[in-house]
Amino acid sequence: MKTKILKIDPLDFDEKDLIEACNVIKSGGLVAFPTETVYGLGASAFKENAVDNIFKVKGRAKDNPLIVHVDSFEKLLEIAEVDEKYFEAINKLTPGPVTFVLKQKVNLPKNVTAGLKTVGVRIPAHPVARKLCKCAGLIAAPSANLSGKPSPTDSQAVIEDLFGKIDFIIDAGSSEFGLESTIIDLTSEIPIILRPGPITIEQLESIFGKVEIPQFVIDASSVENPKAPGMKYRHYAPEKPVYRFNEVQREKVIKKAISENGVFICPEEHKKFYPDDRIMILGKLSEPYSIAQNLFKVLREFDRSNFKVAFIEAFEEKGILLSVMNRLKKASVEVEL
Ligand code: TXA
Ligand code: MG
Repeated sequence: MKTKILKIDPLDFDEKDLIEACNVIKSGGLVAFPTETVYGLGASAFKENAVDNIFKVKGRAKDNPLIVHVDSFEKLLEIAEVDEKYFEAINKLTPGPVTFVLKQKVNLPKNVTAGLKTVGVRIPAHPVARKLCKCAGLIAAPSANLSGKPSPTDSQAVIEDLFGKIDFIIDAGSSEFGLESTIIDLTSEIPIILRPGPITIEQLESIFGKVEIPQFVIDASSVENPKAPGMKYRHYAPEKPVYRFNEVQREKVIKKAISENGVFICPEEHKKFYPDDRIMILGKLSEPYSIAQNLFKVLREFDRSNFKVAFIEAFEEKGILLSVMNRLKKASVEVEL
């Protein structure tokens, strides 16, 4: 298949620049598009065959539902039931990097929701994503990567995984957050966090009061019966091995890395600890959102590099770094020394 790539300046574009991509979606094709979290692979949420193609192209398990993207709160209310007590909170958080799991109001094709009675809905803030939803209607979209690979945070990553397999790629530069949206289930009395993300647990607690944090959100290995079906699969992982380690293991890990052609993935502030020629920088500890922004990008850079193995420092699980660790625990294993 021929894949068309369209470059767009997200700060300076016209609605008509998106007409072709919009028509591709309306006629049942697949379009990779930028959002502020990661790039999405979109199909019309009402076209069952197009949605089927998303699963085929990604190699995605059928029991893993997709997020439906809409451009406004009004549209969200058309497809989902929302308890009025949550209206204010939703309006505070949207548009933005958060997905709400809600009771389904309309009958979406079964493959969108994996047969669940709920639906994940997101109102993205990225101007291109929103305009595309405005034009094409409801867009069902997972991240635009092959299943199991790190989510794409720029068009290069999308091209690497999906070029020749989808109709269209909109390239609007790098994603602002670099981590998938926070998912919060609003179908029970107390909101439940299903996936930590750019909106932190601390922020959610300040907006919702009490929230439930299931064990699998913190401890990636306890995913026996996760409520977000996607959380149980191997995820975010490069082809090559990635080991995570703690400060106290640093000296031993340096020896191991040198003997195994390894590279260190670390924040700017810690590069002084490692050999100059074995470093990939992951943002700054003093600006923790920069670490989230670079995580998937650097994991892909490692895959393209000549290094055989990567060693990455574990972070304290607070704020955005808790979300980073959630992904990292799935992409890596603890080093054995
Ligand atoms: O930031 C994001 O959320 C990106 C952009 C493209 O919007 N999308 C994304 O989609 O990360 P995906 O498919 O990679 O992850 C969606 C997650 C999966 O873990 C899935 O199980 C969960 O959302 N999910 C979707 N609908 C659900 C539902 N009704 N109940 C529980 N979990 C749901
Ligand atoms: Mg994904």
